[in-house]
Amino acid sequence: MLLLDEPADTVPHADPAFLSDVLAGLAQEPKAIPARWFYDRRGSELFEEITKLPEYYPTRVETGLLEMHSAEVGRITGSGRAVVEFGSGSSLKTPHLLRAIDPAAYVPIDISGDFLRESADGLAQAFPGLPIFPVEANFMRPVALPQEIAGKAKLGFFPGSTIGNLVPRSAVNLLRSMIDTLGLGAMLLIGMDRVKGEDVLVPAYDDAAGVTAAFNLNLLERINRELGADVPVHLFRHQARWNDLWARIEMHLVATEDLSFTIAGRRFAMQAGDTIHTENSHKYDPRSARQLLAAGGWSPIREWPDADGKFSLFLAEARAEPVAP
Ligand code: AVI
Repeated sequence: MLLLDEPADTVPHADPAFLSDVLAGLAQEPKAIPARWFYDRRGSELFEEITKLPEYYPTRVETGLLEMHSAEVGRITGSGRAVVEFGSGSSLKTPHLLRAIDPAAYVPIDISGDFLRESADGLAQAFPGLPIFPVEANFMRPVALPQEIAGKAKLGFFPGSTIGNLVPRSAVNLLRSMIDTLGLGAMLLIGMDRVKGEDVLVPAYDDAAGVTAAFNLNLLERINRELGADVPVHLFRHQARWNDLWARIEMHLVATEDLSFTIAGRRFAMQAGDTIHTENSHKYDPRSARQLLAAGGWSPIREWPDADGKFSLFLAEARAEPVAP
């Protein structure tokens, strides 16, 4: 229980946005903390490990799709586009696309300047003639692109099914904001994970080696590290569950017994079985994926699924609103 009129203590060196998201998220019922706070250095390392797990198919399958279909993407988009990658992270999948489409420039956008510089340096070595203009920004809002690519046709690139981490309302807002960033006439290549059986989905988010559990629990460790809190991490367990109503995997941190902790002078209590909801990963079937794109202002052009129907790449175009009945 939280006494809302109690002011929070200040925590030296803490990111104020992290502190306020954590305090607000734990004060609400059900408790929830935005998934973007997973990605401190440790969280980013654990995520890289997740992408190599046998149970976590999305990265492997999407990389295979890019290897197989980038040439065809290039035939449809034509050469000479500026490729703008949203949330480029370590840009591991990007070379397949850049090699195939003969781009005019590459613009990685990421909120983490460290990541951005490291991956831009790596790509500059692999593609010596390609102009690269990294932009450190939060791509959830419209981003001002570098002057150097003004007037060039654009291809947005949003791999990884990261769109699935947003509730549909926010996903639509992001898709619309991408049009503000890229302009009408732009194209978008986006990866989306498909709806499938729980026998495949749940292990992908609750692997036998416990890496995803460590990734989820690291959020509590981060709260202790950065916010000077005393959350009893050992009294929580990781849970991945399928929510069919919303067509999504949810990750939760479950209290294994009654417990309490203090963050910035505020005390929180949880009963055994209560959870903190930490992530949504929405899955789309081909029609719902196309409707999501259309709701966000993107007209679907092509879909490339893998042979098992696990994951799809979509190419779409931001057209001026069609006259419709
Ligand atoms: C980054 N994102 C697309 C991943 C996903 O599959 O939703 C994050 C993740 N969470 C647990 N495993 C992977």
